[in-house]
Amino acid sequence: MQPKPARVVAIYPGSFDPITSGHLDLIERGSRLFDRLIVSVVRNENKQPLFSVDERTEMLVEAVAEMPNVEVDCFEGLLIEYARTKQATVLLRGVRAVSDYEYELQMAHMNRRLAPEIETIMLTAREAHSFISSRLVKEVISLGGDIAGLVPRFVEKRLRQRLHLAAEEEEPIRL
Ligand code: PNS
Repeated sequence: MQPKPARVVAIYPGSFDPITSGHLDLIERGSRLFDRLIVSVVRNENKQPLFSVDERTEMLVEAVAEMPNVEVDCFEGLLIEYARTKQATVLLRGVRAVSDYEYELQMAHMNRRLAPEIETIMLTAREAHSFISSRLVKEVISLGGDIAGLVPRFVEKRLRQRLHLAAEEEEPIRL
């Protein structure tokens, strides 16, 4: 057994295409649990993302600007190898529903087999975020649905630009 490190570094890996309010909540909660939290965007050539890794990273950087112990990075290859290069001992993941749990459990077991010194910690999503996913947010906005509150405002703006949708009406200024 490895002793507890003086400073616990955690990695929160994911696709973040784009970041949602659910991700942001998990990042905030993770930042209170660990000394350093690295939110890391996976480079996965097999997926067809809406935003490039650089764009997703840019949005994450903007979203975590007020959190001093959180940084944003990207990685490719095996997650546990990347975690080792960062001296991370924790992998952070969010679980929204039982359906997520099966996939998360499988990954956690595989990662533990590959790197027994690294623990996966799963946080349950806040009830209000339990139905939010990047995939559904993209589908809803592209079909004209309202996604207010499901992603940060600036992310909604980026989605509208990317999907060539009309900008949201500004709130009228009341005199
Ligand atoms: O947000 P996602 O798409 O659910 O994140 C999945 C992610 C990035 C955590 C997973 O695909 C991953 O860890 N990829 C890196 C490659 C790897 O290590 N695969 C083995 C995991 S058991």
